[in-house]
Amino acid sequence: MASSLAAHADFDMSSAPNDDVEFTQWVELLSQRIGLRDAHIRRSFLDQCIGRRMQQCRAKSRREYYELLSDGSAGQKEWEGLIQLLPLHETRFMRHESSLRLVRDYVGRVAKDPSRAGQPVTLWSAGCSTGEESYSLAITALDAVADAGSTLEVQVIGSDLCRSSLDVGRKGVYSKRQMTNLAAGQIESYFDPVDTDSYEVNTRLRSVVRFVPINLVEERTDTGHVGMVDVAFCQNVLIYFDNDTRARVCNRIAEHVLPGGLLVLGAGEILRWNHAQLKRAGDDDTLAYQKLSTVV
Ligand SMILES: C[S@@+](CC[C@H](N)C(=O)[O-])C[C@H]1O[C@@H](n2cnc3c(N)ncnc32)[C@H](O)[C@@H]1O
Repeated sequence: MASSLAAHADFDMSSAPNDDVEFTQWVELLSQRIGLRDAHIRRSFLDQCIGRRMQQCRAKSRREYYELLSDGSAGQKEWEGLIQLLPLHETRFMRHESSLRLVRDYVGRVAKDPSRAGQPVTLWSAGCSTGEESYSLAITALDAVADAGSTLEVQVIGSDLCRSSLDVGRKGVYSKRQMTNLAAGQIESYFDPVDTDSYEVNTRLRSVVRFVPINLVEERTDTGHVGMVDVAFCQNVLIYFDNDTRARVCNRIAEHVLPGGLLVLGAGEILRWNHAQLKRAGDDDTLAYQKLSTVV
């Protein structure tokens, strides 16, 4: 890849890609590293991102910048800078009501199951961006446990490719404008005011959610520390990948779902995908599966 880019005559002369060949090569690189399909990269936008990062790290040419990206740990760090600029991170609290209702009902059943006493209910928000989805799952699960009259512990893992997004999640400070989907009671129970315009997650909610970096398409990325979860939730992430990558990522996530547990995807985000241990769950508004064997 580096050599084909380097071989392209105009490659290192400009901060803008000169033709389709070079654009295709950059898209291939993004596809290999993070699964991003070209349909999600506008060429002029990619140009701007590369240009901005080149300025930031004082790369004199696109080739030099490409080589920096490929350079071991320095390259890994620079990927962070580039990924942060790409338009991948849009998110909201309580984004998909029907999916969260399914999670709430499921966690409520787990909380009432006497055989689960003493074992925490665990949820994974895969591709969590800046934390809103992870905190929404945590609030949904905590409310469901309380409604069930249970004291079962809740644990949520939020994972994302982008470390700076995870840092925003860890910080847990959100403006009022970002919180309009939360009910007043949820804000009161799970957030503390910071100033007139923002809130931060309170100690209780913070203690429930842990953020970890995971690239879902990178086979070498260790997902072992996610462990086995009651609910794996992955929405608005698969859309960036081609069909084969979507299936691979779903298979990978499904491995982490406990028997009887739920896998919740974004409606319509994968077609014609089946898994021997999963059966469809939920209604037409959701794309969800339950793992076979133990039925809660
Ligand atoms: C549009 S946001 C969706 C956030 C959240 N799931 C939601 O629905 O609100 C997509 C997130 O997927 C992450 N992402 C994209 N490719 C990824 C990959 N290969 N591995 C892990 N996360 C990825 C992006 O960094 C981004 O934060």
